[in-house]
Amino acid sequence: MYGGPDGEMGASMRYLAQKFAMKNNKVSGLLNDIGTEELGHLEIVGTLVHQLTRGIDIEEVKSSGFDKYFVDHTLGVWPQSAGGYPFSASEFQSKGDPITDLVEDMAAEQKARTTYDNILRLVDNPDVREVIKFLRAREVVHFQRFGEGLRMVQDDLNSKNFYACNPGFDKGCGVKGCMDSSNNSCGCR
Ligand SMILES: [Fe+2]
Repeated sequence: MYGGPDGEMGASMRYLAQKFAMKNNKVSGLLNDIGTEELGHLEIVGTLVHQLTRGIDIEEVKSSGFDKYFVDHTLGVWPQSAGGYPFSASEFQSKGDPITDLVEDMAAEQKARTTYDNILRLVDNPDVREVIKFLRAREVVHFQRFGEGLRMVQDDLNSKNFYACNPGFDKGCGVKGCMDSSNNSCGCR
């Protein structure tokens, strides 16, 4: 969850990048707030990894399956997935389309929640579980808040066409009172 496809680095980068093109100021602020909170989560996960690995000896490195990571990073914390794949910006989008971006954000929060569920299925340590449960709960809240953000964006648009064009770029896209069945998919021009 530090640098994986549904991890905290991807979440913070996604929202803090998407906020610039989000025309609705409240939703842009929402992205800024949640993106900043995800940076805090990144620090929490990094701290957890550090606390779980500091002081381990080479026998523990070998027996715990930590050896491959150890060769590259010793006990340093580095953004990669649980499967060892390095963090990449290709794991998230900033599409410049408010509906596309917010739908991705809602899916991302659910994917993060699923990932934390999987960690809870594997981990017995109660101190680790409490941290993971806290982070999981925040993902659920973020999913709900992005749902509110999507509703705010949709409420500003003509409901007949907001799935058929990009209101962040196409002129007239989603303008209320502008679309009729004879018009093209990008609304009024
Ligand atoms: Fe989140």
